[in-house]
Amino acid sequence: MTTATSKAIQITHHGDPEVLQLVQRDVGQPGAGEILLRHHAIGLNFIDVYQRSGLYALPLPLQLGMEGAGVVEAVGDGVTHLQVGDRVVYASNPPGSYCERRVMPAAQVCRLPDSISFETGAAMMLKGLTAQYLLKQCLPAQGLQPGDHVLFHAAAGGVGLIACQWARALGLQLIATAGSDEKCQLALANGASHAINYRSQDFAAEVQSITGGQGVKVVYDSVGKDTWEGSLACLRRFGLMVSFGNASGPVPPISLAALAPKGLYVTRPSVFVYAHGRDATQAMADDLFEVVASGKVQIHVAQRYALEEVRAAHEALEARQTTGSTILTL
Ligand SMILES: NC(=O)c1ccc[n+]([C@@H]2O[C@H](COP(=O)([O-])OP(=O)(O)OC[C@H]3O[C@@H](n4cnc5c(N)ncnc54)[C@H](OP(=O)(O)O)[C@@H]3O)[C@@H](O)[C@H]2O)c1
Repeated sequence: MTTATSKAIQITHHGDPEVLQLVQRDVGQPGAGEILLRHHAIGLNFIDVYQRSGLYALPLPLQLGMEGAGVVEAVGDGVTHLQVGDRVVYASNPPGSYCERRVMPAAQVCRLPDSISFETGAAMMLKGLTAQYLLKQCLPAQGLQPGDHVLFHAAAGGVGLIACQWARALGLQLIATAGSDEKCQLALANGASHAINYRSQDFAAEVQSITGGQGVKVVYDSVGKDTWEGSLACLRRFGLMVSFGNASGPVPPISLAALAPKGLYVTRPSVFVYAHGRDATQAMADDLFEVVASGKVQIHVAQRYALEEVRAAHEALEARQTTGSTILTL
């Protein structure tokens, strides 16, 4: 049996984008529970930046990337839900999607509906499964009803633009924040009920004004350090703080006493806690495929880079120059 090689991006130490190195490596053959996959498009996510910088320090050397779409070329023993030739998409551990071909666990790889292109699939899977669990599973004690206000930071980004549209489909009033007036307009055009430029406005004061002093039931906060305190101020009594990212840096240690005046709840989820195992992942993916196929959620592939240009892609994402999703092409 021949062992093919693949272009891949790996790091041997943590740091700025220049640590991203193009290498050629053996692909190997799938073992039990694995598939061999040829990518047609690869998704870029902010978690790739954390893993590259060392904020999330995984063992080195490390091949980056958690999201991709392509075609199955070989199937290992015990894999029953996929066949050679299937069009597939995934958001999955372990990292390693920044490559032409890879061997990977099959459990979280899903068949991609024919109506969805490889580029759209690669642009939507990790971000879309995240929007799915945030809006439909990560809920305050009394749930969310149509008309309820929620606050969503960085709403013009990859996860954000999907969340804006999905929230509108659910009848929620999503108050968006974003880092420029143009990004605010984009969030509004995608279903946000209100948008606040949090680089020029006091977002906590604006949220109180929009909600008539009530506050919101949920804050979805992926910005972290810079927004944590303001986010707590936006919540109503018994509100839920969902801290799901750290684009501005990790949230500093907190005092539980700060939650007491409003009896707030706090959760720090990961998509892979919800998309855990084959059945849960497929159910979430089916929900995402349905909302995309119906046109209720459109996937904005706003940036495309060749795999070899991955450093520029990381620089743009970290510099807040992107909107919507970014993909790497082959
Ligand atoms: N826990 C989970 O399950 C999970 C899953 C997926 C993603 N996430 C998190 O969700 C967030 C969005 O992910 P994404 O891949 O879709 O990225 P993204 O939203 O497209 O990009 C991140 C955005 O964060 C905003 N931001 C605010 N302060 C920033 C700073 N100091 N440096 C850089 N960006 C800053 C920027 O938007 P503005 O210019 O508008 O502020 C930037 O565009 C990330 O924090 C990611 O880690 C978490």
